[in-house]
Amino acid sequence: MTVLGIETSCDETSASVVSDDGRVLSSIVRTQTSLHRPYGGVVPEIASRAHLETLPTAISEALGAAGTAWGDIDTVAVTYGPGLASSLLVGFSTAKGLASALGKPLCAINHLQAHIFSPFLSPGAPSFTDTCPFVALVVSGGHTCLVRVEGLGRYRLLGETIDDAAGEAFDKGANLLGLGYPGGPAMDRLSRSGNPAFVDFPQTRVKPQSPPEGCDPALCFSYSGLKTSLLYYLRRNPIEEGSPDKASIAASYQEAIVDSLVDRCRRAMRGVGALAVGGGVSLNSRLRTKLAALAEEMSFRLLMAEPKYCADNAAMIAGLAAAGQGIRGAAVYGLDIEPSLAVTD
Ligand code: KG4
Ligand code: ZN
Repeated sequence: MTVLGIETSCDETSASVVSDDGRVLSSIVRTQTSLHRPYGGVVPEIASRAHLETLPTAISEALGAAGTAWGDIDTVAVTYGPGLASSLLVGFSTAKGLASALGKPLCAINHLQAHIFSPFLSPGAPSFTDTCPFVALVVSGGHTCLVRVEGLGRYRLLGETIDDAAGEAFDKGANLLGLGYPGGPAMDRLSRSGNPAFVDFPQTRVKPQSPPEGCDPALCFSYSGLKTSLLYYLRRNPIEEGSPDKASIAASYQEAIVDSLVDRCRRAMRGVGALAVGGGVSLNSRLRTKLAALAEEMSFRLLMAEPKYCADNAAMIAGLAAAGQGIRGAAVYGLDIEPSLAVTD
């Protein structure tokens, strides 16, 4: 079974071909960052229009790079949620049209479950099923959650953010520091020359009565207070042009985000053998270093997505479909896009 994967849930237009044994034969990712930069965030109308323009060529390039002909495609897999409604629609309608024109099955994939699958795409990675049960951390611009994975299709939410996602906290903090958009990579770079102990930013704890349903408050995240702390800190201590303090303030802010993620992983990993990590924020160098140290200390196996599979990509969509997951058959024809789909759906 050769799977053509399509991903258009946010601001990356991506297509990929994955073989039945899970090998990624091609992965084309066209990012729209430069289109959204002037607005300091993703503009849904611009995103969906760019998906419309870019997706046909991304698909042709993915087929070409894989050396796959249209007739060799056995299944078309596509993200149906969560994400921006107008962006999801472009990929979902394209995939429906392609599947029906080719006379092949359509497979609808949950984007968050695909992020959980992303560390298993790389050659040499263990099999997903053999690794179960394990804990997964999804950290991106739109989501931050910890999930217990019992098997393919068997997910239990342990904790999630009650306000901003970690990537949003990076982007908003970077904006306050004047680092441009997207802020995460810029803050990661600047922080390398700063002192992470320069400012003691607070780590917000989630009040016991307010966790999302079914979640353990000790495994939940909150970042809106942190962003406000940075805002007030900068009001009290304006940064002079060219001051080296800027790197240390960035490093301290980054440290508060990273420490909250590592702290929740530490609590979730008691008695569990492996942690899988995916999503754009898992590119963060400080997070990668601190999670590696935690894995060594607690003797669990750390499976981090390869950098090319951290942010949104269609290889994780096709990979999860090739592993036998997703909604297909008659059920897929009654399905619509689900912008608010939960990780456990
Ligand atoms: O997974 P992703 O591409 O899109 C979503 O599904 O949201 O994640 C994008 C997020 C952005 O907030 C971006 O700032 C953040 O990932 N990001 C980083 C880094 N690279 C990307 N955050 C921290 N450090 C990085 N190196
Ligand atoms: Zn994502």
